[in-house]
Amino acid sequence: MKISLLSTGSALPQKVLTNGDLAGMVDTNDQWIKERSGIAQRRVLSGETLTDLMTQAGRQALDRAKLDAQALDLIVAATFTPETLVPSAAGAVRERLGLDSCVAFDLNAACTGFIYALCTARGLMQTMGYKNVLVIGAEALSKVTDWTDRGTCVLFGDGAGAALLQADAGGDFLAAHLEGVSDRDKVLFAPAPFGDTPFHKRRDKKHFVEMNGKAVFKFAVTALCRAVKKVLDDARLTAENIQWLVPHQANIRIINFALSKLGFAPEKTVINIDKYGNTSAASVAIALDELFQSGKLKRGDKMILTGFGGGLTAGAILWEY
Ligand code: ACO
Repeated sequence: MKISLLSTGSALPQKVLTNGDLAGMVDTNDQWIKERSGIAQRRVLSGETLTDLMTQAGRQALDRAKLDAQALDLIVAATFTPETLVPSAAGAVRERLGLDSCVAFDLNAACTGFIYALCTARGLMQTMGYKNVLVIGAEALSKVTDWTDRGTCVLFGDGAGAALLQADAGGDFLAAHLEGVSDRDKVLFAPAPFGDTPFHKRRDKKHFVEMNGKAVFKFAVTALCRAVKKVLDDARLTAENIQWLVPHQANIRIINFALSKLGFAPEKTVINIDKYGNTSAASVAIALDELFQSGKLKRGDKMILTGFGGGLTAGAILWEY
């Protein structure tokens, strides 16, 4: 069975938070944030919910493919910041799309979540015979950000992106690679937000993302290059054969380093970190939607989607459109 991309969608919160706004909250400035990360602004949830964004992105993908939501066999959502744990974020989207039944579940692979979710969807399509699958990457990082910590709060944003997959509709995965590495030094850490019980007191009362930026940076550049190289090698292709690179948007310096190391031209690369910051599992999905909406993606083009992040996780998919 071939796994084809039918359409995409995305949704961002209304509220724009600029570097100038952040300079009024913590000891930082526009120049530092732009130079060190490439970020000028990000979106944060205010009036809307993550489920609103996920539903909007999913509906957009369905509408663009002119596919009725009733035709969906599966909804997979990648997120570590769902609005509720039960039902899952994907289950909430199922309800909002007006479906009585459809297999739906979440997975958490932090910033690599969308890559993991696409691979999971592909596996289930092939083993269960599912035909139409909605894969959503979504994150409400503003809820797990310590807004007094300038080392992390300037980097993150909220958003959602969706991809609609169909069996045998043209195009296919040419190669895929996933990585998982034990984060023994807790270079990227977010405790679960559960409370005390009569029998057990929580050791860590915080629920914020904590990060050793330098260590994550080091992992990110090597993991990104390794994952892209692996899918190229597996498909017996080189950077010249690839029309589009859609990387996780964590830091423009990570992307630029990878581009020069891998020999990708900047004009083949989707970059939107300046507008949205790091939206974790949503980032590759939103960037893919930007590419799709630009009209530049042509049938037969080969693209590499790649992510890295907490867990630690990394991965890449080489996908022919
Ligand atoms: N504004 C101004 N100054 C700052 C800020 C800020 N927001 N943050 C840190 N600084 C200061 C530091 O205190 C330090 O000052 P000092 O030299 O006096 O001690 C100086 O700037 C340099 O700080 P560094 O941490 O060395 O800066 P660096 O160049 O490493 O950049 C950054 C930091 C942007 C976090 C970078 O390390 C990075 O991008 N790391 C990777 C992050 C990432 O990829 N995360 C992805 C996963 S996220 C997820 O999974 C949810």
